[in-house]
Amino acid sequence: TKGAAMVTAVASRVQAQRKQIDKVLALFRLTREQLVGVRDKMRVELEYGLKRDTHPLATVKMLPTYVCGMPDGTEKGKFLALDLGGTNFRVLLVKIRSGRRSVRMYNKIFAIPLEIMQGTGEELFDHIVQCIADFLDYMGLKGAQLPLGFTFSFPCRQAGIDKGTLIEWTKGFKATDCEGEDVVDMLREAIKRRNEFDLDIVAVVNDTVGTMMTCGYEDRNCEVGLIAGTGSNMCYMEEMRNIELVEGDEGKMCINTEWGGFGDNGCLDDIRTQYDKEVDEGSLNPGKQRYEKMTSGMYLGEIVRQILIDLTKQGLLFRGQISERLRTRGIFETKFLSQIESDRLALLQVRRILQQLGLDSTCEDSIVVKEVCGAVSQRAAELYGAGLAAVVEKRREDQGFEHLKITVGVDGTLYKLHPHFSRILQETVKELAPRCDVTFMLSEDGSGKGAALITAVAKRLQQARRE
Ligand code: GLC
Repeated sequence: TKGAAMVTAVASRVQAQRKQIDKVLALFRLTREQLVGVRDKMRVELEYGLKRDTHPLATVKMLPTYVCGMPDGTEKGKFLALDLGGTNFRVLLVKIRSGRRSVRMYNKIFAIPLEIMQGTGEELFDHIVQCIADFLDYMGLKGAQLPLGFTFSFPCRQAGIDKGTLIEWTKGFKATDCEGEDVVDMLREAIKRRNEFDLDIVAVVNDTVGTMMTCGYEDRNCEVGLIAGTGSNMCYMEEMRNIELVEGDEGKMCINTEWGGFGDNGCLDDIRTQYDKEVDEGSLNPGKQRYEKMTSGMYLGEIVRQILIDLTKQGLLFRGQISERLRTRGIFETKFLSQIESDRLALLQVRRILQQLGLDSTCEDSIVVKEVCGAVSQRAAELYGAGLAAVVEKRREDQGFEHLKITVGVDGTLYKLHPHFSRILQETVKELAPRCDVTFMLSEDGSGKGAALITAVAKRLQQARRE
């Protein structure tokens, strides 16, 4: 009959649509073989970055940090810390008490308006100093001359612990006249311009390094720092003899890998999708930070948005209507992805979140959106796992161990908020580095505390040198 024919027609249309959706989702499913490939390529890039001859062209920059040891518990004092480059800009006062390994912190979050993130360098640093002044005022510390640790979470070429030349901006920053300049000098000059207080800038620190230090304060096995947040990066302790860019063969030094740039030479092109390319092209730094753009909080939502646009164009979502909202960059922040993927959430609630984002969805739409989010974040966690497996395996081999026990200090909104990310990351590392026993340690405020600890150690060494 006619009715039955119509039902069959609808059923086969639904089936055809399902096929089209699955085809897109399949692009994000990596086989074990592909992940092994990613791990092995990462390993190659790590070695390139360490070697003098290949370093200048390396996409994983492997930057020496001049952080050579962990805090030993004797550090103490009051420190200021700045944290620039994550979700928030913060100024902190950190009090470290020796012996008991206890740390107290006070902090204030300040907004950095987009015009300042993308204005001139002078404006940016003047703004930072303005925030420090507010904070000192607020804490009743005006006029205090405190040592300061600057967590500056961008790639810097360092010639010492208190020197850092910004190589290039990443993530959402694009202030002019900063690339190629020493950020410590820029901060000092801004403090001078204001002419209100004096600060002793002792250390400039990447957030990964701060995270590793914070965890290292409690766990001696912590030799890796990982950030899965707005950006994606990792640092680890490397044997001095392998670091060709720095004189000396004794002991170890922390290397800021800047692994976000992995793939910038095209080595990940076999797994990059058209959506990854669209995200890259629409970003502030096209062609750069390709691995970061497949893995970190600032971009995952954008990948999701590109997929949703494409599915809508194919008539598979939102009744084929691309709304103004869906065309808007940056609507899917990490916290929304995390909510949408939460297993405790009923589909109706997913629809409500989409509604909040200004997207009108049917029940079927919300199922598809959730699947898309799942595919994108699963791939991100697996890619992180493959990268991390390369590093811990390298550490194991370099030390000639059959088995390696190692702790990874982790921080970042994606790791902390997402319901599945950390589990998938851990499973992937286990699978791809079976001879390493990796413990993950969540860092409580690694950037602030870590910067203070590094500052404390640097101060202690400074004083020892003077005596
Ligand atoms: C970006 C920065 C890097 C930082 C990471 C996490 O990749 O280049 O320095 O560690 O984001 O914030």
